[in-house]
Amino acid sequence: MKKVLITGGAGYIGTELTSLLLESGHEVTVYDTLMYDGAILIPFFKDNNFKFIKGDILDTEKLSEAIKGQDVVIHLAAVVGYFACDKNKRLSVDINVKGTKNVIDCMTEDQLLLFGSTGSNYGKVDGICLETTPLNPSTLYGETKTEAEEIVMAEHKNSIAYRFATAFGVSPRLRMDLLINDLAYKAVTDGCLVIYQSTAMRTFIHVRDMAMSFLFAIHNADKMKGEVYNCGSNSLNYSKRDICEMIKEKTDCYIHYNDFDYDKDNRDYEVSYDKLQSLGFDVSVSVEEGIDELLSVYKVLNFVDQRYLNTGFPEIN
Ligand SMILES: NC(=O)c1ccc[n+]([C@@H]2O[C@H](COP(=O)([O-])OP(=O)(O)OC[C@H]3O[C@@H](n4cnc5c(N)ncnc54)[C@H](O)[C@@H]3O)[C@@H](O)[C@H]2O)c1
Repeated sequence: MKKVLITGGAGYIGTELTSLLLESGHEVTVYDTLMYDGAILIPFFKDNNFKFIKGDILDTEKLSEAIKGQDVVIHLAAVVGYFACDKNKRLSVDINVKGTKNVIDCMTEDQLLLFGSTGSNYGKVDGICLETTPLNPSTLYGETKTEAEEIVMAEHKNSIAYRFATAFGVSPRLRMDLLINDLAYKAVTDGCLVIYQSTAMRTFIHVRDMAMSFLFAIHNADKMKGEVYNCGSNSLNYSKRDICEMIKEKTDCYIHYNDFDYDKDNRDYEVSYDKLQSLGFDVSVSVEEGIDELLSVYKVLNFVDQRYLNTGFPEIN
């Protein structure tokens, strides 16, 4: 049993991870400002191994107190996605970069740090992205995450960073701005999809598998630490068109392909997951299964409010 603190533990990945770590017998403290929704944490309070601290990673005194005595810190707190970062530039740099530095400064050398980095760090790449491929982020989100990852790897040797593929699927705190989650929702509510850059290659991972990857890192820390890993699966590299056709098959929606816009994050890339897979980690949920699960959930979720869109917090530039 490990004592694990999750910054950003009330988020999309954090709530799924909290659930998995508690199920696995670990003691979990969520440290989060509750930027979106606190109510989703309610079921966890039934577990004696769960603790919540409402706190900001920019508040070093509170953060330091929370980190004291933990075996593992999983650092997920961030302003997430290019849209949210562009709306909140100064705050995003503060939270994503300075906040990460604060986490490291509050930790002792023996504490293990697991960092949720992103494939957005690569920017546009011709060929297949390996962990050694130069990083060339094309948005503020990617820039702040790249800087944070560099700080983590340079300043805390007992660290593992995962450059995650784009998440999909259902978690206690659902995010509707993620590509597959968004397309599946539009297919059932609007009955049609209008798609730009349909040949762009993207890479995906189910949110449950992201949580599993952190459990894997806790179990295999000795052989993994000091390294960055692409986290996803070679079997989940798809074009946008592939995803749309899968959704069409299940919903019979109408699809109009038209290059009226482009992805600001420039994500048109394939990624190799050989490094992590060679250690024995692989994903368990396919895109098809994730779409089925989303379509079932959308039958009970008959509204979209700002909490699900990663845009609903004050603009500070
Ligand atoms: N979802 C993805 O596809 C994806 C892919 C790659 C990497 N990541 C990374 O994983 C992490 C989690 O992403 P997510 O999808 O769960 O995002 P999310 O927006 O659902 O969760 C972020 C959480 O961080 C909290 N938070 C924000 N600022 C904070 C602060 N100053 N102090 C404490 N808590 C704060 C928010 O309240 C929220 O609960 C992020 O670091 C993100 O960059 C996500």
